[in-house]
Amino acid sequence: MGNVRHFLCTSTLTSEEIKEIFELARVVKKSPKEYANSLKGKTLAMIFEKPSTRTRVSFEVGMLQLGGHALYLSANDLQLGRGESIEDTAKTLSRYVDFIMARVYQDDKLRKLAENATVPVINGLSNDLHPCQALADFFTISEIFGELRGRKFAYLGDGNNVAHSLMLTAPLVGMDIYIASPEGYWVDSRFFVKAQLFADAAGTRIVLTRDPKEAVMHASVVYTDVWASMGQESESVEREKVFADYQVNYSLFSLAAHDAIFMHCLPAYRGKEVTDEVIDSPQSVVFDQAENRLHVQKAILIWLNEKR
Ligand code: CP
Ligand code: NVA
Repeated sequence: MGNVRHFLCTSTLTSEEIKEIFELARVVKKSPKEYANSLKGKTLAMIFEKPSTRTRVSFEVGMLQLGGHALYLSANDLQLGRGESIEDTAKTLSRYVDFIMARVYQDDKLRKLAENATVPVINGLSNDLHPCQALADFFTISEIFGELRGRKFAYLGDGNNVAHSLMLTAPLVGMDIYIASPEGYWVDSRFFVKAQLFADAAGTRIVLTRDPKEAVMHASVVYTDVWASMGQESESVEREKVFADYQVNYSLFSLAAHDAIFMHCLPAYRGKEVTDEVIDSPQSVVFDQAENRLHVQKAILIWLNEKR
């Protein structure tokens, strides 16, 4: 594996490295043409076990804009779907391509890919984490508010992959994060313990609560995600009942700071976790988030390439 840097979790980055990536994303976004040859002739393999709109399109377009090329590989169409090992897949793909991005169910598959690949591996979402999303989201927040230290971030709903990555990243950018979830749907304690260590080191707060109002009160950012993630569709009806009080509607959102923004990684289920009046309001930045996936992932690709 050598010294290849992978991007499987934001917790492998330091605060300084996040700043570097954000600065790169800022200039790439401002002057994309100056980076038109940054990855000339390079190829990204994109393995998808789950569907995607934003991740697939932003990585594919991002590679094209950097002078490279991306290959969409549905896991079912690869020999992986017929039982070829992840280890052999990683070793084989490394002989052809310069980066591998994978969206998988089990996080462990990413670890195995990274251990066996000789090129950088990027987590494009797993059941546990969504690091590209979290980096793009905090980049979006920094574009709007500038300095993030001391600001309150409220996440409402399922303690899922997106919640984990936001929680792990918030201390690294200096934000306090409140996560309001119903009993039984809290963030995984493994990630909480890790994030709390970062928060202790950074002097920031992580608060887990059942009370959505406590989380939203005076927050600068109000964020939610779907109540049933990919792979949990059969639990949708049950989850709609459990999460009903966590819906981001006007009455809840109005408890946040006067200049608060609404965020959602998308896809959103309107009328469930968020109402139209909030997601379509001028304070909603959901499409800026989606756009920034492109710029931040281009920065991640350039940054990983430079680290090789
Ligand atoms: N937010 C996000 O990752 O969207 P996709 O599932 O469309 O890629
Ligand atoms: N938590 C959601 C995020 C989708 C981008 C899921 O895993 O389906």
